[in-house]
Amino acid sequence: MKTIQALIEQGDCLDVLKNYPDNFFDLIVTSPPYADSRTKTYGGIKPDEYVEWFLPRSEQFLRVLKPTGTFILNIKERVVDGERHTYVIELILNMRKQGWLWTEEFIWHKKNCHPGKWPNRFRDAWERCLQFNKSRHFNMYQENVMVPMGKWAETRLKHLGPNDVIRFESQVGSGFGKNIANWVGRTMAYPTNVLHIATETGNKNHSAAFPRALPEWFIKLFTQEGDWVLDPFVGSGTTCEVAQKLRRNSVGIDIVPEYVEMARKRVVETQLYLLDDE
Ligand SMILES: C[S@@+](CC[C@H](N)C(=O)[O-])C[C@H]1O[C@@H](n2cnc3c(N)ncnc32)[C@H](O)[C@@H]1O
Repeated sequence: MKTIQALIEQGDCLDVLKNYPDNFFDLIVTSPPYADSRTKTYGGIKPDEYVEWFLPRSEQFLRVLKPTGTFILNIKERVVDGERHTYVIELILNMRKQGWLWTEEFIWHKKNCHPGKWPNRFRDAWERCLQFNKSRHFNMYQENVMVPMGKWAETRLKHLGPNDVIRFESQVGSGFGKNIANWVGRTMAYPTNVLHIATETGNKNHSAAFPRALPEWFIKLFTQEGDWVLDPFVGSGTTCEVAQKLRRNSVGIDIVPEYVEMARKRVVETQLYLLDDE
């Protein structure tokens, strides 16, 4: 069996990626440092300067991504002075000018959020996972993320009306149509663009680690075995650990040496686990 590689590199991804060739990665999936006016966090990038900081890095991401590849950016705008800052919206507009297509937006619903109380807002229980592409023809393996049909089918598919047995065109002129009868007798369906994934409380080593299930879903959807995955802000190494388990090659980059050590350890542990499994 072909060896799967997981390389964890230390440095600013802006510099490290300059050593990588054009059109190399099949998927980039990452959660970048927060825009934060408090400099003590590892990011320390001021919200007003976030776009300017991000764009040279996304230029590298654009260069190293294959034309058939996808870039998933997990990000959420912070509240600054009582209102949502606009840096994510500005980032999307500027990345489009840089040459990216803003293909889709997935919502990560943190389904295990505990309740909270603030004077003027409720618990923030979702984050954006923005999908960017270089071309409209990107690889997508939808069958890999199918979900059980669910309870709706039991009632909805029981009594089909006249519009359910034909391709019924959208009434709002969107160009989309649906044929409900197509789903009769099937056990699996395609998911929506809302991902209900619990945050993981197990990872105590990194304050902002995302759950394994998040990169896992995108890696399954956008890559095949042996493909190359990049996480340019890899933190504790979640993306590379998951990529390795799914038999995808990966590169993870982080600027903080302690996180690099942590990520390397996780990847080595995963490699041993794979060997045990074979
Ligand atoms: C939100 S965390 C990522 C957490 C990661 N998804 C995980 O599961 O552990 C962002 C990471 O980006 C790193 N970072 C910040 N600036 C960077 C840069 N210029 N290049 C590479 N990594 C950077 C930080 O050290 C931090 O670990």
